Amino acid sequence: MKLDFLGDLRRTHTCGQLRPADVGEKAVLMGWVHRRRDFGGLVFVHLRDRDGITQIVFDASKNPEAHKRAEELSAEFVIAVEGLVERRTADTVNSNIATGEVEVAVSKLWILNESRTPPFPLEDDVDVKEDVRLKYRFVDLRRPHMQRNIMMRSRITLAIRQALYAQGFLEIETPFMTRSTPEGARDYLVPSRVQPGSFYALPQSPQIFKQLLMVSGYDRYFQIVRCFRDEDLRADRQPEFTQIDLEMSFPQEEQIYEVIEPLIHGVCEAAGKPISGVIPRITYAQAMRSYGSDKPDLRIPPFHCVEDLFVDTPLAAPNGLPLVAIHIPKIGQLSRKERDEIKAAGQERGLRVFDDVKRLDRDYPAAMQNVRERVKPSEDDLLLLAGSTDEKAGVLPEQSVLQACGQLRLHVAQKYNDRHKLLDPATLKFLWVVEFPMFEWDEEEKRWNAAHHPFTSVHDEDLEKLMADPAHCRAKSYDLVLNGIELGSGSIRIHRRDVQTQVFAALGFSEDEAKRRFGFLLEALEYGAPPHGGIALGLDRLVMLLAGEQSIREVIPFPKTAKGADLMCEAPAPVPDRQLRELGIRINTRD
Ligand code: AMO
Repeated sequence: MKLDFLGDLRRTHTCGQLRPADVGEKAVLMGWVHRRRDFGGLVFVHLRDRDGITQIVFDASKNPEAHKRAEELSAEFVIAVEGLVERRTADTVNSNIATGEVEVAVSKLWILNESRTPPFPLEDDVDVKEDVRLKYRFVDLRRPHMQRNIMMRSRITLAIRQALYAQGFLEIETPFMTRSTPEGARDYLVPSRVQPGSFYALPQSPQIFKQLLMVSGYDRYFQIVRCFRDEDLRADRQPEFTQIDLEMSFPQEEQIYEVIEPLIHGVCEAAGKPISGVIPRITYAQAMRSYGSDKPDLRIPPFHCVEDLFVDTPLAAPNGLPLVAIHIPKIGQLSRKERDEIKAAGQERGLRVFDDVKRLDRDYPAAMQNVRERVKPSEDDLLLLAGSTDEKAGVLPEQSVLQACGQLRLHVAQKYNDRHKLLDPATLKFLWVVEFPMFEWDEEEKRWNAAHHPFTSVHDEDLEKLMADPAHCRAKSYDLVLNGIELGSGSIRIHRRDVQTQVFAALGFSEDEAKRRFGFLLEALEYGAPPHGGIALGLDRLVMLLAGEQSIREVIPFPKTAKGADLMCEAPAPVPDRQLRELGIRINTRD
């Protein structure tokens, strides 16, 4: 096919721009052939660019030459057209597209490039397997819903910068080639050619650098920054992802919330989903007692602990462990089979489920009356009680029971969402969870880990308990949660060397290990480190939730698969031996 040069041709409008006010104007449009319909003497083409779609018309009776060439056009050809903007007759107006009241009567056509038949149609409603989409991502990204998501991401990123610049933040970059950082996943390593056998680590977050920036006096730092973590991937996890990372000097926790809340308002506005009011707060302890989760989904109501109402009854769990009334609205009558499934789901999580409310009412009328007063269920709501089957092993049995009840609550709510429709992605329920515990028990390693990271401050009153009672030390840390997903985490940091040493000791780090891993930070704390604190929000998760998507891959232009592969450029890939030799690396392939 003969292709045309662009020459000095310039577009006058995008494909989403023309309106009735432009009727009579000459327009030059450029874009992709989205759809072509041939009615003999008339050929209609939907011309598409990222701004929209305009109908262009080739009429054999008016412009035989352009019409003739229009017969050669196929899906995804790249063309330019010149023509007059005309008003469509009332019966041909297309209210599905913004330019639908007009069309362009083409007088001249340039074919700038042809296209092979796309591997899948570009319409949104066509289901395409994800690995094919990822292999041909350059085509997939043309699909309208991907374009909407990627453009929304850009608007959100701008809103973040606007909110933070308006509050006096400085945007500062930190290195990608560095040492291991403290977020607890595996590192991606980069071998050094100049020092064979030595490696840089890609940062899991800029945590240490942002703390050092505070030590250096750059109060109010932020960065929209890529982080790298080699961990098991899920719908909301990628090996490289983007954080909105910030840090402040001399902050109270309250001031961190005061910075983030207008940012969240701006972001929701930019996504076309404005929210109002302050973001509610609950403590970690409350979140566990009401939702069995440190990231509660507020779209469904809390559960209620009712063990106090069943003391000395056969329902009482061993050792006063929680008995929980789970309440999911508007589920209506459940069949025997459905109730058995819920019981089995409870059992899988180590729970005894009492689903026969009629029987409970009969056997424990007074207690059940009190349960209803606490829970306030309506007629067609589901109410059931769940408790531990027996005393849980481990250090924090109460937490395990509450967590299991939280999972059961979510399982049932998700399963019957078509009845109550509460888990609507358009409902945005933000929440601060505050006062996390300082340490988390690692059952496998039989040791305490930092619940956030080892640079997090302990509550002033709990400092004394660091060694004696780690289970009950509260941290000055906080999470931002949206619809049951952790959007961000942060903390007030330790700014004194002596306190940092105590926390490392409580975590079982030897002085040597602490020095080897984080020596430069420890040293910096000795040179006038101010009190400081901050937070990082996951940009991909934020955009995913605002775009109403289920996976962050839908809002990342070039994501990796669950196995960490880029199917389009086929990464990771072996490298030539010569490159390995230069790096002093020999591959040891085991069968
Ligand atoms: P944290 O490790 O909690 O905190 O990370 C902050 C936020 O980053 C997002 N996130 C991810 N998003 C996609 N894929 C991943 N693999 C992934 N891992 C994390 C989440 C999470 O809430 N330095 C601290 C922050 C601080 O203390 O200021 C940190 O990185 O939304």
